[in-house]
Amino acid sequence: MENTSAKFPIRLVEELILLMLDEQSGYLEMVPGWNFSCVMAGAVLADLALEDRIDTDLDALYPVNSRPTGDNLLDPTLKEIAESKKKQDTQYWIERNTGRSDDIVTATLDRLVEREILEHESGGFWGLSRSVSRSGTYPASDLKVRQEAKTRILSVIMNDDSIPDPRDAILIALMHTCGGFKLLLEPEDYEERLERIELVAKLDLIGRTVATAVKDSTAKPRTRRVLRTKPIPKLRYTDILRQRDFRSGNIPKAMHGIFQEHGPVVELPFKMRKSRVIALMGPETNQWVNKHGRFYLRSKDYIKDLESAFGASRTLPGMDGAEHYRMRKELKSAYSRASLAGRLPELVHHCRQSLSRWNEGDIFRAGEAFQHHISSQISHLMIGVDCSHYVDELLEYEHRALVTQVQGALPKFMLSTPKMRRYGKRVRELQEAITASHTPGQRRGKPADLADAILGLHKNDPQFLPETDLTFPFVASMVASIYLGSGLAFAVYSMVRHPDLYARIRREAELLFGNGRQPEAEEFSHDTIDVTVRLYMESSRVHPVIPWQLRMVMNECIVSGFQIPAKTMLLICQTVSHYSDDLFKTPLKFDIDRYLPDRAEHTTPGAYAPYGLGTHMCLGNRWVELQMVVNLLLIAYHLKLEVLPANYKLGMNPFPTSAPNKKLKFRVAQVTDLA
Ligand code: HEM
Repeated sequence: MENTSAKFPIRLVEELILLMLDEQSGYLEMVPGWNFSCVMAGAVLADLALEDRIDTDLDALYPVNSRPTGDNLLDPTLKEIAESKKKQDTQYWIERNTGRSDDIVTATLDRLVEREILEHESGGFWGLSRSVSRSGTYPASDLKVRQEAKTRILSVIMNDDSIPDPRDAILIALMHTCGGFKLLLEPEDYEERLERIELVAKLDLIGRTVATAVKDSTAKPRTRRVLRTKPIPKLRYTDILRQRDFRSGNIPKAMHGIFQEHGPVVELPFKMRKSRVIALMGPETNQWVNKHGRFYLRSKDYIKDLESAFGASRTLPGMDGAEHYRMRKELKSAYSRASLAGRLPELVHHCRQSLSRWNEGDIFRAGEAFQHHISSQISHLMIGVDCSHYVDELLEYEHRALVTQVQGALPKFMLSTPKMRRYGKRVRELQEAITASHTPGQRRGKPADLADAILGLHKNDPQFLPETDLTFPFVASMVASIYLGSGLAFAVYSMVRHPDLYARIRREAELLFGNGRQPEAEEFSHDTIDVTVRLYMESSRVHPVIPWQLRMVMNECIVSGFQIPAKTMLLICQTVSHYSDDLFKTPLKFDIDRYLPDRAEHTTPGAYAPYGLGTHMCLGNRWVELQMVVNLLLIAYHLKLEVLPANYKLGMNPFPTSAPNKKLKFRVAQVTDLA
């Protein structure tokens, strides 16, 4: 990809974003709203003035040179000003441009990553790149401005003798207008430096004009109310029932039908937690959630009842903002592919041990059997305990908790039936077993696992991760084995249904595991597991285990031209795009070649999202891929499976997450090389 950013000087919008970025949280200090949008729009106008494309006087803002700058951050605004028949003032153009602010922020963040000033981390967080943090200067030598924004601007503010560059005076004026210095400085420093800030803010004429217009817009907007939005289509139950794919439990396909008929944003005909429920569908809304969801959406509301069922007050999936960023960072390595790769022999051992239960002629139920198969791996590898004697009861309790506390598909008291109360005791048992097996003496010489990471975090900062919040992440890892089990059942089904792929995967397995070989983790490379990886990717496209997720709108937002008020429940159907024929050629065909480099259909932004979107995107996705691949390879190597009955047509149970229905069974036709 061409590095376009190097062509342009660093823009005011870029530096404003850098000034507003909180490096501790990976978030912008200021939540996009009207004020923020006005400041961004003002910065674009100031940049156009610095490029001698526009000028302003007391009554009007007018073009002086309409030739495009070639910069997509500035040109749409310049074009609009140049084409306007009527002379308007600066305030008008600021307000007019607020509608572009989400696009401006997105393009700016992308450009800062391209310039290697920011780094983009998984989950959509941003941080200053290591070289910029260390040196305090921007990396590219051809940038006119060398010293990084915060260092430069703070030195102007703190030092009465420094004479600011006119451009810095504009930045200071804009930051001051949106109250940015209150966030950047400690309160006492802000009080003390206010006079200096105000003095510098007035130094430059453009800065002064733009800042006044921004201030007027934030105080008494003239055009805010005329932002046009579309009415959200309201579905009736019959609109939903008409989608026949709901009957087979295929949520993404059924919701894709709704998307085609009604568009990307629809109101569903029921309420959740007394709130309206609005579904978002398709690649455009996926991109919106990825890029902007953090400013407008919150997870806490949908998950808090599940958290309290396990005695927790805060959990990784229920956190947002700075705390969430910190928790993800603390646990990232425990959930990483590298952490599983380091324990490959154990993974292979547990997988083989579980497969060895099966003999030729055995028949088993896919969903249940693979959940068991995976949970033995997860419990050993993540939390270092053997809970095989009560895992069924534990998983059933967790399953019921998801259905009653998150989805509300069953009433809440169904988690307190005598059976569930009995099963609930297994959660305590699990917690006690983990604590007992993770003392320093017990863990000596053993590789650190997730439980070590969680208990270590608790020990180092018991306020951040208190004792009450320890059970949830342990339970969550066992819940992940429900997802993995379903994912594996779907993938094995796809493999068995495509004998050519089954044979190719077996060949990959023979090269890695044949003649008693124990492959090293590095051997699981692109070339050696290519078909297996692509089969798993395609299975996750066609049968995603988590097809949708819930969020609460915490700030009013506009998505795809629809205005969504605060306190609305959003059903983000991120996998609807998996069935779009604009994105995936013949989407109903199981075709692993769509992931080959010359097609790479999954790489279109917003197209492929089996692991969710935005800040809460699955932290274990690379771990999952390796675990799945190893399991598929070993199954293909050791077992010849047949679907039973042979004419079985895949049906799905969509709650709480998608799994093959109970009718899917496999018969073990042949066992090879399994002692
Ligand atoms: C087939 C298996 C899996 C699928 C399809 C899957 C998918 C997902 C999805 C869609 C989310 C986002 C949920 C939301 O936004 O509300 C998520 C979150 C998460 N997943 Fe997975 N997952 C799987 C297995 C795993 C495994 C095995 C692990 C652990 C190694 C894991 C760790 C996590 C964590 C820690 C989060 C929460 C991240 C956060 O809130 O910041 N997942 N997963």
